[in-house]
Amino acid sequence: MTAPTDMDTIKPQLIDRFGREVTYARLSVTDRCDLRCVYCMSEDMKFVPREQLLTLEEMTRIGNAFIALGVNKIRLTGGEPLTRRNIISVFQALGSQQDLKDLTITTNGTLLEKYARPLKDAGVTRINISLDTLRAERFKKITRNGKLEKTLTGIEAAINAGFKKVKLNAVIMHGYNDDEILDLVEFVRQRNMDISFIEEMPMGEIGDHDRSETYYSSDKLREFLQDHYKLTATTEQTGGPAKYYRFADNEQSRIGFISPHSHNFCDDCNRVRVTAEGMLLLCLGQQHSLDLRKVVRANPTDDEALKTAIIGAMKLKPKGHDFNLNEQPIIMRHMSATGG
Ligand code: 5AD
Ligand code: SF4
Repeated sequence: MTAPTDMDTIKPQLIDRFGREVTYARLSVTDRCDLRCVYCMSEDMKFVPREQLLTLEEMTRIGNAFIALGVNKIRLTGGEPLTRRNIISVFQALGSQQDLKDLTITTNGTLLEKYARPLKDAGVTRINISLDTLRAERFKKITRNGKLEKTLTGIEAAINAGFKKVKLNAVIMHGYNDDEILDLVEFVRQRNMDISFIEEMPMGEIGDHDRSETYYSSDKLREFLQDHYKLTATTEQTGGPAKYYRFADNEQSRIGFISPHSHNFCDDCNRVRVTAEGMLLLCLGQQHSLDLRKVVRANPTDDEALKTAIIGAMKLKPKGHDFNLNEQPIIMRHMSATGG
């Protein structure tokens, strides 16, 4: 992926009714995961039967269609993407596309010891690793039986593989890990990594806690951090929804805040998602969708039909989402099915 010049950059062809250009696609490659984080899944999750998942070839076709339509950033997510067998082949296929500027993954890190290097070699530019606690007992509780050590080893492997950026994602929940905010920040500062703090979103039944009781706002978090560090807001954009801050005494690390509740990040939304079953979701918080699996299977050799369908779906993209913690989840999909 060489940096494209103005001459050879593909013109965005995905423009919605509100004039927003879609240049970022997130593809969920599986809804399964080797962990069961309490904010993400219920204990007894029912997963999608395997035959209903997109095949690796279908995912690659869909990814390539997005690139041809001007998408320059693709993130593969899940569930845990690295639990999908042979998923590296999709990274390799997309990573070889000249017009893709950023190929990224969101992972829980448990399998990175093995896959960090192959991902780098496939052309992955950045990597996001979910980590909410640095305490082994607590990790076990939050992930419902995961081993902290595996994720920490994975993080070291990612740092050593030499990605442009390794970032942590942490969901802060009152009463679970809000006493570890400074420890997590120090962890990334020592390693020149970024960290994004994510407000818990009301996605799917989780059967663990009342989300209105664990809610910890980004505003509160930022004020707390500003008591400990000198932070300056940056205007940098990574194509995602995070607002970033820099430290006065560390040029390498940044703190991002992703706050779907307290700030409306919909106005400059540039992204769409595809579920592991091939549903194109035009908005995280709304039910508008188009069945891309049906389109690819009805047109096994014709990518024009696929592109036309994607362009047509842009008119379904709603103006914004509407999350409300005090109601039952309006969004019945879990994050793992949607693509976190
Ligand atoms: N709210 C916020 N973030 C979530 N994730 C999963 N479920 C939720 C939720 N309900 C995040 C994880 C991980 C990514 C896969 O999605 O923290 O970073
Ligand atoms: Fe798995 Fe990530 Fe969901 Fe945790 S948040 S259960 S690691 S998909």
